Amino acid sequence: MATKLQWLPALLLLLLFPIFLVGGLKTPKEAASGAHNPVVLLPGNTCSQIEARLTDAYDPPSPRCAAAGNDNARWSRLWKNTTAPEPDAPCFADQLRLVYDHAADDYRNPPGVLTRALSFGSTRGFLSDTPADKELCMGRLVEALERAGYVDGETLFGAPYDFRHAAAPPGKPNREFSRFRRRLRTLVEHASRKNGDKPVVLVSHSQGGYFALEFLNRTPQPWRTRLVKRLVLASTGAGGFVLSMQGLATSNNANSSRSTASSLANVLKQRQVSTSFASVFTALPSPTVFGPDTPLVVTPSKSYAARDMAEFLAAVAGFTPEAVRRYETRALPVALRFGAPLVPVTCVNGVGVPTVEKLVYGRGDGTGPEVEYGDGDGVVNLASILALDDVIGGDPRQEEYKSVKIANMSHLGVVSDALALEVLVGEILGQPRAVLMSRVM
Ligand SMILES: *[C@@H]1O[C@H](CO)[C@@H](O)[C@H](O)[C@H]1NC(C)=O
Ligand SMILES: *[C@@H]1O[C@H](CO)[C@@H](O)[C@H](O)[C@H]1NC(C)=O
Repeated sequence: MATKLQWLPALLLLLLFPIFLVGGLKTPKEAASGAHNPVVLLPGNTCSQIEARLTDAYDPPSPRCAAAGNDNARWSRLWKNTTAPEPDAPCFADQLRLVYDHAADDYRNPPGVLTRALSFGSTRGFLSDTPADKELCMGRLVEALERAGYVDGETLFGAPYDFRHAAAPPGKPNREFSRFRRRLRTLVEHASRKNGDKPVVLVSHSQGGYFALEFLNRTPQPWRTRLVKRLVLASTGAGGFVLSMQGLATSNNANSSRSTASSLANVLKQRQVSTSFASVFTALPSPTVFGPDTPLVVTPSKSYAARDMAEFLAAVAGFTPEAVRRYETRALPVALRFGAPLVPVTCVNGVGVPTVEKLVYGRGDGTGPEVEYGDGDGVVNLASILALDDVIGGDPRQEEYKSVKIANMSHLGVVSDALALEVLVGEILGQPRAVLMSRVM
């Protein structure tokens, strides 16, 4: 495995200086009063639980699926259902996939499958059944906030979203995201009203950041100014990451799809499921951040840079022309408008962790691409993290922007590691922690 970490020391030196790299650092004044601003959390990918209900319109792929997860048309857990019998896995896969409805020009569940996110409004609905999910799905952050005095349903709220979906550009039919926006708007208003009209701190992790930003960018500015005190954006880059291309390229390999088929735990990894999601395109590297010519995937016949994504999707990742068109008309325009929310923002990102930067096919034994690593948080590339400073911080309309980069911290560590949580909670409370300079950059 080739690595190219040689340039890292110089870059780290550059970054090592202040705790906060950039920002109009206006420090919030209240906060010490003990009366905290209410907090609304948006967790990362796969963290929301999805319930399903089948109707008579459902056409089951096997008789078993007509009943699986669904007695008497009641709501039951589709994701993540850890107690269903293993033979139900193909049924869950069939019910979790999305289809593109041409008449509606929008993504839908398969006919006869109704879905909803569990426990909207609460952090209790975030997936946290197992220790691994707890780390991934803000369970540690919720505990840390509760130690700081926050109470679920009183001062602390959750905005789970259907992670299979994504925002489309304004004007495109986008039913699920529109519904989410309405519910989040009501939740923010409720949280504020319940807490003496104090504005709300929105805190997102990873994919939740895309939902939070697109939500904010589509609210009227006076609403935002009045009701949102700050957006704390954890582990989201401004331009996606190369790892998402690796996922698509390797899931198009027959061997790997066979090995993950038909397992309940891996139902989201099944190609026919994962590639049906609107969100499959969300984190693809954006040409504005990765540069038009930087090769990200190299095959013997062609190099693919971020601007060649449509070709990559067709030739390497095996998408149909119709699916590629959805990338071009729905996902790419949203990626290109990633921008400043015009409320105070703190970005918290890990750096210094080897992160997939380039895939090279045709070297070595030919079983798969050779991976070259660069800097980042293990998921998001450093280029995408640094671009936040330009895309959000550099927008003249964005008044308050701050970036905290934590050395040697992973994508997941930002919401689960003890030191990272101290930083994150400090930012949420408006009491920035100057902890361990050596690890906080
Ligand atoms: C999980 O699936 C099984 C079988 O499909 C179903 O009986 C059960 O109710 C589901 N669990 C939840 C929590 O809904
Ligand atoms: C990050 O980790 C590397 C390797 O373990 C170590 O040499 C370096 O000092 C760490 N950097 C910081 C700022 O903690």
